[in-house]
Amino acid sequence: MTTRWTPTSWKTKPGLHMPNDYPDARALQMAEDELRALPPLVFAGEARRLTAELARVEAGEAFLLQGGDCAESFKEFSADNIRDTFRLLLQMAVVLTFAGRKPVVKVGRIAGQFAKPRSAPTEVIDGVELPSYRGDNINGMAFTPEERAPDPQRLIRAYHQSASTLNLLRAFASGGYADLHNIHRWTLGFADHGAGAQYRELAEKITEALAFMEAVGVTPETHPDLSRVEVFTSHEALLLNVETALTRIDSGSGEWFDTSAHMLWIGERTRQLDGAHIEFMRGINNPIGVKCGPTMEPDDLLPLIDALNPNNIPGRLTLIGRFGHEKVGDRLPRLMRAVKAAGKRVVWSIDPMHGNTLKAANGYKTRPFDRVLGEVKGFIEVAESEGVHPGGVHLEMTGQNVTECIGGATAVTEDDLSSRYHTHCDPRLNADQALELAFLVAERLKQGRISRSQAA
Ligand code: PEP
Ligand code: CO
Repeated sequence: MTTRWTPTSWKTKPGLHMPNDYPDARALQMAEDELRALPPLVFAGEARRLTAELARVEAGEAFLLQGGDCAESFKEFSADNIRDTFRLLLQMAVVLTFAGRKPVVKVGRIAGQFAKPRSAPTEVIDGVELPSYRGDNINGMAFTPEERAPDPQRLIRAYHQSASTLNLLRAFASGGYADLHNIHRWTLGFADHGAGAQYRELAEKITEALAFMEAVGVTPETHPDLSRVEVFTSHEALLLNVETALTRIDSGSGEWFDTSAHMLWIGERTRQLDGAHIEFMRGINNPIGVKCGPTMEPDDLLPLIDALNPNNIPGRLTLIGRFGHEKVGDRLPRLMRAVKAAGKRVVWSIDPMHGNTLKAANGYKTRPFDRVLGEVKGFIEVAESEGVHPGGVHLEMTGQNVTECIGGATAVTEDDLSSRYHTHCDPRLNADQALELAFLVAERLKQGRISRSQAA
């Protein structure tokens, strides 16, 4: 039997991966109260619009591109970093739109993606045991007792960082930067070869198309959508105290929305049917995601779908597979088949990052580009043979020229990893690798489109 939902009903359920070792409970309470009094970061209407866009993805009429840092940090917070992530999302979206002939729904892992579930609550170095690093909104990365102690003031700082990040994203999206006529200017910083050169060629084609459209009277003045884009925000809803503090009633509809981001997702480690995270997420009206890992069976997934989307609303629920390149072909078909047979309206997306992490010989956590690409290709293959729309990708990536994932056309090697390894958690695709992935996925989607139209 389902009990009544409230923004705090999750407190009666077991909640994993939330810190319970704040040294000063009163200070935590005060920070939560402060958050509760702060303005919403997003509006209910925007979240509703994203649900509608995701419904188009579910119907096979659009593609979802979700990506950004594994974990945002206080240290890497700058206008340049935000611009570079924004630009990368746009460039990838252009590539995917051009090949797929479908609009791309752009969702950043940004403006709130701080907290991380960790495999162990503590870390031991040279015989010293301290709490694990859990993300900048909880504790610090440096291995000292002071830094590793959870500090509630970090929650407030993360809120304000999210607010300024979102402010800049909104300005980039509608203030002229995203104008398709500027598409050439977005190439700054890319190599002259590989994905960079391919992108320039595509930009050339789009500029020609725009000139033609202008000649026939389609201009940014007549069609404002040529000069602006909508980029949505998302993060893992891990810290339920924070999510609760930002969950508000929409005065228009009387519905609850979590105003910390447009879309929230439930991680692989916190998707227990009877757990706190599912309880919280079932009551908010934002579009939500659930990570689906290699151990998930149809019998696990179907009850989750019923709990999270009892009214089967298209666009409400996105299933984000993350199996690993070797397992996707074995694990995904049974899930897709069961969901389809049960008539459940969901978006299927793939996270090719979290099942493909390995430790390099020199100790760095990395992900081989080929495996990342392999999982995306496996996903598209399975979806096509199950008659399901391969709806989207979910990536950890950055606009910066980091060396965290190995491989790709620019061939980052294990020896390169130490040169620019800046992530606060998992290894991200750099801008070249992410753009290359977009081209390769676009090519694959185009083949699917052509063979479907030939079959029709
Ligand atoms: C993540 O997306 O950063 C993450 C922790 O993923 P997962 O829950 O799939 O392991
Ligand atoms: Co990660």
